[in-house]
Formats: sequence, structure tokens, C-alpha cells
Amino acid sequence: MLRRLLYPVSADFKLIEGQLKCFSNMHTTSKTRDSFGLHNNHSLSRNRTDVLPEHPNTCTPIADFYAGKSILITGGAGFLGKVFIERLLFNCSEIDKIFVILREKKGIKAEQRLQHITESPLFSKLKETRPKDLDKIVPIEGDMELERLGLKSDDQKTILENVSVVFHSAAEIRFHKPLKHTLKVNVEGTREVLKLCRQMDKMEAFVYVSTAYSQAERKIIEEIVYPPPDKLSEVYKTLESNNSTKEMKQILKGKFSTYTFSKAMAESLVAEEHGNVPTIIVRPSVVGAICGEPLPGWVDNWNGATGLIYDFGRGVNKVFHGQRETITDMIPVDYIVNLAIVAATKCSDNKDVKVYNSCSSLDNPLICGYLKDKCAEAYRKIHNDNSTAKAYFFKSPWMVSIVCLLYQMVPAHVADFWLRCRGMEPRYVKELKPAIVRRDLLKKLTSMSFFWRTEQTRSLYVTLSQQDQRQFPFDPKNVSWDEYFENYFKGIYKYLNVKK
Ligand SMILES: NC(=O)c1ccc[n+]([C@@H]2O[C@H](COP(=O)([O-])OP(=O)(O)OC[C@H]3O[C@@H](n4cnc5c(N)ncnc54)[C@H](OP(=O)(O)O)[C@@H]3O)[C@@H](O)[C@H]2O)c1
Repeated sequence: MLRRLLYPVSADFKLIEGQLKCFSNMHTTSKTRDSFGLHNNHSLSRNRTDVLPEHPNTCTPIADFYAGKSILITGGAGFLGKVFIERLLFNCSEIDKIFVILREKKGIKAEQRLQHITESPLFSKLKETRPKDLDKIVPIEGDMELERLGLKSDDQKTILENVSVVFHSAAEIRFHKPLKHTLKVNVEGTREVLKLCRQMDKMEAFVYVSTAYSQAERKIIEEIVYPPPDKLSEVYKTLESNNSTKEMKQILKGKFSTYTFSKAMAESLVAEEHGNVPTIIVRPSVVGAICGEPLPGWVDNWNGATGLIYDFGRGVNKVFHGQRETITDMIPVDYIVNLAIVAATKCSDNKDVKVYNSCSSLDNPLICGYLKDKCAEAYRKIHNDNSTAKAYFFKSPWMVSIVCLLYQMVPAHVADFWLRCRGMEPRYVKELKPAIVRRDLLKKLTSMSFFWRTEQTRSLYVTLSQQDQRQFPFDPKNVSWDEYFENYFKGIYKYLNVKK
């Protein structure tokens, strides 16, 4: 472990950075990508939707693993959670039950929430082919903030007797919620899920969905569990006495948000407390729309990359942090889910926790300027618009603020004043402000290049049969970003009901 932590990354980093810098300068055509060997799987470098069979082969080794087994999913109403449910049901048709822990929200009980979940277009293909399979989903009332997850004792008994694989995806994902609350959901909640796993009669795999940004104070992030930023007991002690912004910065120990801090703490907790439970941590970077099956471009909320993608496209905000050359990281939601589904089938032999980074930066790097241009292109196509939305990137946060104020905010106020004078509803500031908030929240995405190593993830992928590689794609090399962003943009309009 210690040897791995002391891994001599600096020389490595220079090499990677040099290679990618050259790459980013040349990032124009797929020919150039191939010539660098960074996107070297040319024959596969298209989204796989065109090669998948209508009906999945139910006898692949991965589908076989899940045959007759029952699964537990937390966060099933979330973006990833829904895709977990759909992919498991669709691709593993012999699966027994999928228990989904859902909390009561705004007076809506778990049962009714499940109905909303399955009304999503995401499930339409399943409904067309095997509608009865939806009956395999069993909603369970539960809350990550409660002891024993607040499960009723008969629900707990059913889970303990039947479940073999757990995907723990529920989390407080808002970046800057009070630390106490975020720790309660993300760390204590994970502890409660693990406690449950340790008591399960048939336990075969526990998969913890973390975030690649849990270690974002490093530039190269290995597929290992890093030491926790602090002892949990110390954090609670400090929290009791201090709460000022300055002290909070000290508590966070370089992590950029309470969210990423809690995820780093949860990863260590998982490593320390998993006991005999075969355990995996999956670390996605920023999650985007579905790339492949069942609906390319499907997205169901504005979180993750979606808000930024939309803003890049329509050009309401034109001033961004960072540089056009920054290597950003994004991963389609189905790729993370597929990786987790596959990894769970292979973890029974591991004593230690295995970590899989689900990231694109080293395998199929995405350059900020290219991303911006692609989004603008997709937007223009949808709107039949030939204009070009300019974008300006600045490394200095001061420059971002000043240029944003003079070039955008002041004109927006003037334009609104003009609208008001003409008796019309002001709209420019109202449109600009949320775009600026999103830009600042996702500052890391455009202002810093991180490199997540993916050797373990890639090794896992090559163990799959060809059929499983088609049914559970998770190698980012196979994503054609051009096609992906076009579908993503169409998805935003279609599934988030954006009016043209
Ligand atoms: N989206 C990304 O870009 C991204 C990137 C990296 C990692 N991840 C990780 O991926 C996982 C899923 O994220 P997501 O994008 O799917 O987020 P999401 O759409 O916000 O889903 C999170 C889910 O967690 C549930 N949850 C939160 N607090 C809970 C509680 N106290 N009790 C029960 N359930 C609770 C929410 O339930 P309600 O529906 O009841 O609110 C929601 O369904 C998270 O662990 C996140 O850290 C996401």
C-alpha cells in the first residue's frame, strides 16, 4: 500500500502532460487522435448503438452471473440509479428482484416514486420488449440519514435473506451543503449500507459509487484508496466548535467542496469497514448523457455536465475559467453503470477494495475548446443558426470576474432596462446569472487538467467476451465525441423539455 502511495508520479505526470499538450494543440480530426495512439482503437471509435442487437443475448457470462440473483440499489430515483435499474433489467433478463431504497419525498411514498421512475422514456424499450420485467423492481422505504437506513424490520429481513449484490449510489451531490449534513448522508449513510451488507446471507459484491474528484488536490489519480483527509472523529470534534468559512477551509484540507471531502472520507470508511464483503469503488468523473443503449442522449436532470454543455452551446455566458487547451473529463452515464455491473461480477476473489476510475482524460481526452465548439455546433444545428457564439477563457479568476462584469453583466442590465422601458419583461440578467453560477460550480472542469489512471478499468474490459463488450460497453476509447455531443444536445431538448 505504502509503496503504491509513494509512486513516483512527478516524472510520469510530465510525460503525460507533454503528450496531451501536443495532442490538445492538434485536436481537430480523428486522424490526429489516432496518430497519437491516445485514441488508438480506431475500428471501435464509434458509439456502439449501431452494432447492438435488438434483444440482448441473455446467456453472456455477465448476464449469467446475475441470473436468479437479487440486487439492492440505493439512489434509484437519481440519474445513475435509474440507469442501473434499466440496464440490469434489460441486459440481465434472468435477474430475480431489484430492491430499490427510496425515501419518502414531499409526501410521496416509495411505491409512488417508483411509478414515476418507470414512467421515464428510459424504460420504453424494456416496456416494448418485456413489460412484465418491471414487476421485478421492489420499492423499499429507506433514508441514508437514519440508523439502519430507517428500514422496516420485515424489509430488512427480506433484504438480508435475498440480496447478493449492492450498488450504493445514493448521495448528497450538491457541492456546498453544510458539512455535517453531507457527512451524515455520504459517510454515515455508507456505513449503514455496509453494516447491512456484512449481515447479508448471500453477499457477493458491494459497489460504492464515489467521484473521481474525491482526490482532486492531486493531478494524477491512481486506482487506489488514498488515506482519508482526516480522522472522522476529529472532523466531528472540530465541527462542534467551529463553523466559520476560514475554519471550514482548514477542515476540508484542500478538498474543493464539502461533497468531495465527504466522498474521500467515505472511500476510506469503505476500505476500513468492509470486513469480508467483496468491495469495489467506482470513481466516475463528470457524468453525461447516455452514449449507447437504450436511448443515446437521454438525460434527466441539469446536474453533472448537462448545464455546462447547454451553456457552452447556446453561448449565453461567454466567459469561462481556464484555457481552451484544458483537458476536461466526462463519462457517459451508461459507461459508469456498465463498469459497475461488470466489476461486481469479478470481485469475489478480492480481499482488498478494488478501485476503478471511470474517466476519459487519458483514454479519449476531451479538450475544453473542442467541447465548446462541438456544443455550439450542435446548438446551431438544432436552431438552424449560422452565427458563432464566441467564448473567452481566462486562467485568472479576477479576469473572469472583470471581463464577465464588463462584457456581459453590464450589457445584460442595459438590455433589461431597455426592455422595461418598452413595457416588456426583462430577461437577460435572469438568463445569464444561472449560467454564471454553473460555470463557477464546475470551474475545476474547465480550469485544470487531471489525469485519472485507468489500467485496472481497461484490464477488466479486456477480460470480457465480445458479446459482453457490446452489451456492457465502458471503454471511453469507444466514444465518438462528435456523435456523442450531437445526441447529448438533442437529448437535452427532448428529455428536459427545452423549448427551441
Ligand atoms: N452526476 C455526476 O456528475 C456524478 C459524478 C461523479 C460521481 N457521481 C456519484 O454518482 C452517484 C449518483 O449521482 P447522481 O448523479 O445520480 O445524483 P442524483 O441524481 O442526485 O441521485 C442521487 C440520489 O441519492 C438519493 N439520496 C440523497 N440523499 C438521500 C437520503 N438521505 N436517503 C435516501 N436517498 C438519498 C437521492 O434521492 P431523492 O431522489 O430522494 O432525492 C437521489 O435519488 C452519487 O454517489 C454521486 O456522488 C455523480
